[in-house]
Amino acid sequence: MNTTVEVLPDKTALIQRSLDLVLTKLQSAIAERGRFTIALSGGSTPKPLYEAIATQSLPWDKIHVFWGDERYVPADHPDSNERMARQAWLDQVPIPAANIHAMPTDEADPVDAAQKHEQQLQQFFQLQPGQFPTLDLILLGIGDDAHTASLFPHTEALQVHDRLITVGNKDGQPRITFTAPLINHARCVAFMVAGASKQTALSQIFAPTADEMTYPARLIQPEGELWWLLDQAAGETIPAIA
Ligand code: 6PG
Repeated sequence: MNTTVEVLPDKTALIQRSLDLVLTKLQSAIAERGRFTIALSGGSTPKPLYEAIATQSLPWDKIHVFWGDERYVPADHPDSNERMARQAWLDQVPIPAANIHAMPTDEADPVDAAQKHEQQLQQFFQLQPGQFPTLDLILLGIGDDAHTASLFPHTEALQVHDRLITVGNKDGQPRITFTAPLINHARCVAFMVAGASKQTALSQIFAPTADEMTYPARLIQPEGELWWLLDQAAGETIPAIA
């Protein structure tokens, strides 16, 4: 694992730096493998990044978009991560519909939706059973409780190591989420973190020792690159890792 921590002066600079990273990874992936596979995070932090990506002139047919997690609501629900990304970015550019690999949330049982999406990934990445895909870039955020994706503290999802996709649980509300091992197989994982409310979580995530079940973002130890892009408000107490 190759870790980089950057503290940017403010959220605007964080978004610009994040855009630079996305574009760099996009260009190298397409040059080397002919396509770019990216998983999006939800919540509020990344929305300006998605808006900025939409302003770029890119080979949209070579870009495949996934989500690292999704609230278990219809795709047109205000809480939907898919809806946010479509409004901010995907509906604004000529990306083929088939390149948008949203997490299904239309099964009565979220377990069935998780299995359905796992099969969709296995088909897209042409995986053998038990094999994990290597996405080019997985974007993540953290909650004030140090969750990431929909891997919430002390939930069963944290213990799932033999699946790509599982069901998360936020205060009884089901989510669909990448598992920690799927995230850790990525070529590059980039956390985008903004705001003073994240300081306590970051201090526990960067502490030499702390309980991963309590601070799930500690589970993210990718084989590839790990980037922490923080604004000053979030990162002012975190020593930069050389
Ligand atoms: C979600 C996200 C979640 C998010 C964090 C941070 O579905 O909510 O995937 O993991 O990244 O909760 O959210 P903010 O960016 O809104 O602080």
